[in-house]
Amino acid sequence: GKAGHNHYMHKEIHEQPYALRQAISGRIDELSGNASLNIELDDEFLRDIDEIQIVACGTSYHAGLYAKELIEPLIDVTVRVDIASEYEVYDGHDTQNTLVVAVTQSGETADTLSAIRRAKAPGMTTFAVTNTVGSTITREVDDSLFIKAGPEIGVAATKTFVSQVTALTLFATYLGRTRGTLSAGDGADILKNIRRLPNAVQSVLDAEPEIKCLAEQYVDSDAFFFIGRGLAQPVALESALKLKEISYTHAEGFAAGELKHGPLALVTENTPVLAFLNESASPKETFNNVKEVESRGAPVIGLTTKGNSGSFCKHTIEIPNLGRLEPLVANIATQLFAYHVANEMGRPIDKPRNLAKSVTVE
Ligand code: M6R
Repeated sequence: GKAGHNHYMHKEIHEQPYALRQAISGRIDELSGNASLNIELDDEFLRDIDEIQIVACGTSYHAGLYAKELIEPLIDVTVRVDIASEYEVYDGHDTQNTLVVAVTQSGETADTLSAIRRAKAPGMTTFAVTNTVGSTITREVDDSLFIKAGPEIGVAATKTFVSQVTALTLFATYLGRTRGTLSAGDGADILKNIRRLPNAVQSVLDAEPEIKCLAEQYVDSDAFFFIGRGLAQPVALESALKLKEISYTHAEGFAAGELKHGPLALVTENTPVLAFLNESASPKETFNNVKEVESRGAPVIGLTTKGNSGSFCKHTIEIPNLGRLEPLVANIATQLFAYHVANEMGRPIDKPRNLAKSVTVE
């Protein structure tokens, strides 16, 4: 059941500290600065990888984009992220040392399964990051990593997104340590932040009353925009997807620097802008983007790190500083914002029109 919540989505948002503890339990070895993941792919192959291709759809695609930003600096390898339905394997591509990673909560998404089959045809090594033990994808790939988020009933992916990114952070650490490109000390720093994640998420959940007030204040807006840089850019995309799918209101996420290249034309006093001012990606530059939209009259809700002045934003929501995981924590605030906008509008939050939890057609 919903355990006293009005919607599964609300329950699942609040389950996140627990889901995260499950995702990381037994998987952190701070002494060696490594993740213990029972990966079956052999170390020699992992050391020889010269390209990683991530394939996924929707929210899982956003987790893939986040993972790219996490993995690339830790290992000297290019990570390409493709929307699964757009994925193509070109003739002459070096298939020997490519790892193809499918990110899929259900493990049943037809587009993602089909991308994996395209990768397997010329012999590429495949890996799945999934929530579902025994799912179709796990039977087709060479190896899997489970995110252990527990069942997610609401169509909108919430806890599984956060658990996917967390599992992918553990995987990135494992790759970096195995390849020798990440030191034990730097690995331990990443793991320390992962360990702090459940409590950091809880502190944003505790701010729900203020977030609900903001949602109620802006529920009648024409559209909502989310802007972020670096690791916050995929979170901006994900936040907009969540808001549009459950509220049926126009929402878009942009790389903050792209605003002036077109989207700025849409900004008015009726389009609130939610800005991720995370420490990990030049918040000063994003401050300038905030000024651009404020001078067009848009109300700005800044998601700012504690101690980082967001005083020029009309509203701020404080996010604990968690290094490269901070934008992930900020995503909790935009989940709650989306939920309360949709709830205020009386939408059928757990089953939005036209959508299915698991999309088994291409
Ligand atoms: O099960 P998957 O992760 O493969 O599903 C992919 C998308 O259909 C899914 O993430 C979808 O975008 C979300 N339910 C939206 O909230």
